[in-house]
Amino acid sequence: MKLGFIGLGNMGLPMAKNLLAAGHELTVWNRTQAKAAPLRDKGARVAGTPAEAARGAEAVFTMLSDDHAVEEAVFGSEGLHSGLGKGAVHVSSSTISVALSERLTEAHASAGQGYVSAPVFGRPDAAEAKQLWVVAAGAKAEVERCRPLLEALGRGLTVLGERASAANVVKLSGNFLIASMMEALGEAFALTRKSGVEPKVFLEVFQSVFARSPIFERYAQLIAAEKYSPAGFTMRLGLKDVGLALDAGRAAEVPMPLASLLRDSFLSGVAQGHGDLDWSALGALVAERAGLKRGSS
Ligand SMILES: NC(=O)c1ccc[n+]([C@@H]2O[C@H](COP(=O)([O-])OP(=O)(O)OC[C@H]3O[C@@H](n4cnc5c(N)ncnc54)[C@H](OP(=O)(O)O)[C@@H]3O)[C@@H](O)[C@H]2O)c1
Repeated sequence: MKLGFIGLGNMGLPMAKNLLAAGHELTVWNRTQAKAAPLRDKGARVAGTPAEAARGAEAVFTMLSDDHAVEEAVFGSEGLHSGLGKGAVHVSSSTISVALSERLTEAHASAGQGYVSAPVFGRPDAAEAKQLWVVAAGAKAEVERCRPLLEALGRGLTVLGERASAANVVKLSGNFLIASMMEALGEAFALTRKSGVEPKVFLEVFQSVFARSPIFERYAQLIAAEKYSPAGFTMRLGLKDVGLALDAGRAAEVPMPLASLLRDSFLSGVAQGHGDLDWSALGALVAERAGLKRGSS
């Protein structure tokens, strides 16, 4: 296909390389033009403006830092929006806000252009090795038209439906999970280290018990199904254990904000009479605070 690619940073450059390697014809634009040189050497055309990269293309990717960068490259003078032809699709892979994704949906639709939101999971090395996971949403026909492009970027693709901004919600939720996991890992490593356990020893326990284990998968299934009973491990016991971890943290002078938050959540669950539910009913407490009813989606 005839493609445009806007944004050749750590992620954009390897993604664009993979589209070229898949046999597509590429016109690229980057604010700092020198970064386009490796692609020019591989046969890509280098455009002087985002509009020029979009002109005549069937689909144009953007992979830019943030909302501001995407707004400038799309709606600025000589922006993508002014160059993209009717029926051509903007594929937005940057991690941007849900609000901007909705604005892009409307702006492209009113110009007779398509819009597919397709953020990616994976770091630059994964992009280079074609190991990204893409989450895509948008009008069905447009997503299907872009499927071969999205498949050329990674090891797989989840299509989320016709509301483009759903892909941005999923991407942001995924990054929230990673950030929470890192905070939890950081707190656990700090507590064990300050208590005299070598990080490499705790890492060995972590790798043997938690990493690549079905634990995360299992809890995600329970929360998704809202199946908190019968309990495999009760919330009351969860409260006890997080309390014990906090006691140990206090003794070792290790602040553990995530553990404090968890203690209050478990305590609230027990106070509401849910102490005998599975401790994964943490998911139910969060859902309730968000005004969600059991069993509704
Ligand atoms: N790195 C990761 O592991 C990763 C993983 C998944 C998703 N993401 C997301 O992917 C997107 C790109 O990330 P990255 O790591 O590739 O970032 P990066 O290396 O910092 O590249 C940012 C790109 O945005 C361009 N840019 C920034 N401000 C601009 C502006 N005002 N106008 C025009 N272009 C502008 C930069 O151009 P210049 O070259 O001129 O600076 C560059 O091409 C981000 O939304 C990020 O959250 C990153």
